[in-house]
Amino acid sequence: MMIPHHLKQLMGKSFWGCVADEPKFKNTFYDAMVNDSQLVARVLIEDHREVFKGLKSLVDVGGGIGTMAEIIANAFQEIQCTVFDLPHVVDNLQGTKNLNFLGGDMFKAIPSADVVLLKWILHDWGDEESLKILERCREAIPSKEKGGKVIIIDLAIGMEDQSEESTETQLCFDMLMMSLFNTGKERSVEEWKKLFLEAGFTHYKITPILGLRSLIELYP
Ligand SMILES: C[S@@+](CC[C@H](N)C(=O)[O-])C[C@H]1O[C@@H](n2cnc3c(N)ncnc32)[C@H](O)[C@@H]1O
Repeated sequence: MMIPHHLKQLMGKSFWGCVADEPKFKNTFYDAMVNDSQLVARVLIEDHREVFKGLKSLVDVGGGIGTMAEIIANAFQEIQCTVFDLPHVVDNLQGTKNLNFLGGDMFKAIPSADVVLLKWILHDWGDEESLKILERCREAIPSKEKGGKVIIIDLAIGMEDQSEESTETQLCFDMLMMSLFNTGKERSVEEWKKLFLEAGFTHYKITPILGLRSLIELYP
């Protein structure tokens, strides 16, 4: 089979290398993320509004082109929202009164905020990398008493009352993550718990949303 020249150039690169180097792929990828974020943001704001109660600041780590943070910033004008992602993703994006964009590397440092949001982030990475990301998150937020928490939107396999079809679909996602990313994977409730405790967090609450996914609130 003839492989087109533009695809040949991407062979051997990581997923994020392909996103950085191939504009068509980047656009298609972020179109999918925008659609998903619109759906998830609506569910969070309409059905789980209490999650944002009392917050003054939020940083959406790996927040892409900012769809999720923009919807939160519009719904809660009192929350100062930051979209933190790789420089090539956020450079040149325009903020608003309570929304700004910042380029950086989540493995090095995450900007301080009351809450760190991680949507569709940790399943891209194995335990070693996820542990580093969670440790950077813990450094970025205040204590639980002062309102600090991490909000994770990801899959949690094997929640109680889950249908067999949902578990099967989650396992398909697990294989997809394994094939797209070197160390990516979906996690069971037990695997999440182990990771959270190792990263120095003390409490967490997992709430199923949208059938397959969960809203996880994680406290230092
Ligand atoms: C699967 S996307 C999720 C985007 C967004 N959270 C959403 O759900 O629509 C993962 C994001 O992580 C970002 N990312 C990857 N490596 C990163 C790093 N080292 N530091 C910051 N962001 C990173 C990617 O650029 C991408 O936007």
